[in-house]
Amino acid sequence: MKALVLSGGSGTRLRPVSHSLPKQLVPLANQPLLAHVLRGVRDLGITEVGMVVPAGTAQIEKTLGDGSRHGVTITYLPQDAPRGLAHAVAIARVYLDDEDFLLHLGDNLLPDGLGDPAAEFRRRRAAAHLLVQKVTDPRPYGVVELDRIGRVTRLVEKPRRPRSDLALVGACFLTPVVHQAIEAIRPGPRGELELTDAVQWLVDQGVVVHASEYAGYWRDIADSDDVLAANRHLLAGVEPVRDGDVDPFSVLGPRVRVEHGARVVRSRVDGPAIIGAGSVIDGSHLGPYTSIGPGCVVRDSDVSSTVVLDEARICGVRRLVDSLVGRAVTIERGDPRRGCRVVCGDDARVEIPG
Ligand code: DAU
Repeated sequence: MKALVLSGGSGTRLRPVSHSLPKQLVPLANQPLLAHVLRGVRDLGITEVGMVVPAGTAQIEKTLGDGSRHGVTITYLPQDAPRGLAHAVAIARVYLDDEDFLLHLGDNLLPDGLGDPAAEFRRRRAAAHLLVQKVTDPRPYGVVELDRIGRVTRLVEKPRRPRSDLALVGACFLTPVVHQAIEAIRPGPRGELELTDAVQWLVDQGVVVHASEYAGYWRDIADSDDVLAANRHLLAGVEPVRDGDVDPFSVLGPRVRVEHGARVVRSRVDGPAIIGAGSVIDGSHLGPYTSIGPGCVVRDSDVSSTVVLDEARICGVRRLVDSLVGRAVTIERGDPRRGCRVVCGDDARVEIPG
């Protein structure tokens, strides 16, 4: 079986970070989201991965290369514009070669893996096997209605008035009959060729589509709150590693990973936390659930529950919390008599204590 990972789209809700970094590459526990996705794929024994990417961009390809570092072989499938999930499957049709496949959205984190649903797909042999999870507000998702034995009876994309609390998780197992369904449907109200419409078409033809409730952790990474929540979840399981230097005046909690070449000087790191390769933490306190990317400097600062991307500098900042700090960003203490001074890119968001 092959996997198809969808990493096109524009990630508008993760601006400004997504202006320069596809949201599928946003680091979670200092690993790009797609590295977590590929781990889940490989753990199923799937090694051939088709990766749909926006045409004319090379960032994902540059980061993941041929996939060998992640134990898979990646074939890149450029999509000219985000014309919908079903459109992305259609452009992969030749690659998929009339076989069953795992479809995985590149912005969905499922760190507990897909072993159980894969086994159920093999056991039940439906035309499609979807995963669902109960959510309090299903409106931003595909919403699924099931009968008593887990067969899908209805599927609606982002309904205004959902008729069930079962949201469609961004991974499913599909058989080649889905290509026929995709040929039969037309773009929905948001102008996209919706996968939910293709699956509904199958249901309408009397084809059996199953769904099972996904018991593991699931997060669709759409905005900065999702990044922070997913990062928290992953850091909660981080193993202590000391690959960098920690001076005798520093105190590290039990779940802190200090990556290669990092230096911790006169600092307290409560953890769970990760300090990226080559970063310097000096005279600072890192509170729980903080990820510092590679090549950063945190000096005389207090940072908690925050994700900091590569090469950022945080100096003299009294209390930075619940933040997402982009690549090479500088946050530093200024002259309090002058007021706050910011140089922010498009779509940046700054909260200043009143
Ligand atoms: O996360 C689960 C939800 O994902 C499901 O509940 C919905 O039924 C499903 O439609 C999808 O909704 P989203 O609005 O979250 O999809 P999004 O546009 O964010 O795209 C999901 C991934 O697919 C993302 O990595 C971008 C990629 N993509 C998207 C489109 C529209 C493509 O590769 N090509 C596309 O044309």
